[in-house]
Amino acid sequence: MRRPEISGAGFGAEWSCPAGTEPVCRCSGCDIEKPPDCSTGACLSSPIILLSTPAGRSPLPGRRADTADDVLADTDLGGRFAVVTGGYSGLGLEMTRSLVRAGAEVLVPARRPDRAREALADLPRVSVAALDLTDQADVRRLAGEVRAAGRPVDLVINAAGIMRGPRTAVGPGWEAHLAVHHLGHFTLTALLAPALAEGARVVGLSSAGHFLSDMRWEDPHFAQPDAYDQWTAYGQSKTAVSLAALHLDGLLAPRGAHAFSVHPGSILTPLQREVPLRTRRRLGWVVGEDDRPAPGFKTPEQGAATAVWAATSPLLEGQGGAYCQDCDIAAPADSDDMLRGGVKPWVLDRGAAERLWWWSAGATGVGAVL
Ligand SMILES: NC(=O)c1ccc[n+]([C@@H]2O[C@H](COP(=O)([O-])OP(=O)(O)OC[C@H]3O[C@@H](n4cnc5c(N)ncnc54)[C@H](OP(=O)(O)O)[C@@H]3O)[C@@H](O)[C@H]2O)c1
Repeated sequence: MRRPEISGAGFGAEWSCPAGTEPVCRCSGCDIEKPPDCSTGACLSSPIILLSTPAGRSPLPGRRADTADDVLADTDLGGRFAVVTGGYSGLGLEMTRSLVRAGAEVLVPARRPDRAREALADLPRVSVAALDLTDQADVRRLAGEVRAAGRPVDLVINAAGIMRGPRTAVGPGWEAHLAVHHLGHFTLTALLAPALAEGARVVGLSSAGHFLSDMRWEDPHFAQPDAYDQWTAYGQSKTAVSLAALHLDGLLAPRGAHAFSVHPGSILTPLQREVPLRTRRRLGWVVGEDDRPAPGFKTPEQGAATAVWAATSPLLEGQGGAYCQDCDIAAPADSDDMLRGGVKPWVLDRGAAERLWWWSAGATGVGAVL
């Protein structure tokens, strides 16, 4: 069969495959070839939201850190206390497992506590607490309970997340991605801040999806008619996660604590459960007749690596607020191709980070941190 090479300017381009041919799709902007799984004749007409990035680069000379366990292989977290939202599914579950193996005690706030206890049943030193991040009162309750327990918190990894289709409004009409990824974690982190130990770290799960949207200051909750687009909403919320880490780091630095955000890579997890299979195929996330992960996708164990690296690596001393990927600080993105990774400039904008912080304080009613 003839294999035509079909070019387009970036992954947002409309490419069409001649009927009866087996397509090979190559992006002229980045020269990356996509899997030839286009059976419909229309290939890759939407932006790729999850990325194919190589597994973790070596964070230490001569040593390969592929998985979260590799990252923590020589790290003793005995006596350390961590809070991992979403720490019972996908990447968060692997983070919890690795932190516990390294000796930490972990509290997992969970929207489905019974499901969380089941998933974590084989692990020592793990406790589960109910938490719905879309419910600000619930977030305040949990933060209050943690503070009342009096135990200093060494690590906070905000891994809970969603990937929704139709616009979903929660609480006072907040867009769900922004509410879960940013506003829920904003309140949780701000209220936990007084309990942070000297040298504590806060890590937010951002995404290369931040490429898809800067903050939409005029309409952050997509209230305008026809404004909503699920990928723009996901992207804006991930930009917010990184900006919040950037500003929080400055607030925490005087106490020796720091904040980071990370892109974990591309990993098939329950996160994509509301993305139809036909869409996952069209976007190139799964390939072949068995719908296996596309080449370059990480395993959940690999996907957990950068977050635990950001939470623990001494190499990040003096680098507070950084956006990380592949167990490294991300370089500035040199194209609009999310497959190449990197960080967009709007995520490093300190003015926008401060603006977001105070906008969030106004929205949540959570005032000064510390
Ligand atoms: N997987 C990837 O390729 C990828 C790429 C870039 C960034 N990320 C980010 O990495 C993080 C972890 O993703 P994942 O792939 O591990 O997803 P996952 O397996 O779906 O885990 C997400 C967790 O968040 C919880 N959660 C969702 N809404 C919540 C709420 N309102 N309150 C409390 N908890 C809530 C989920 O609880 P339920 O189980 O009850 O729903 C689940 O435990 C997310 O922030 C995601 O955006 C992932």
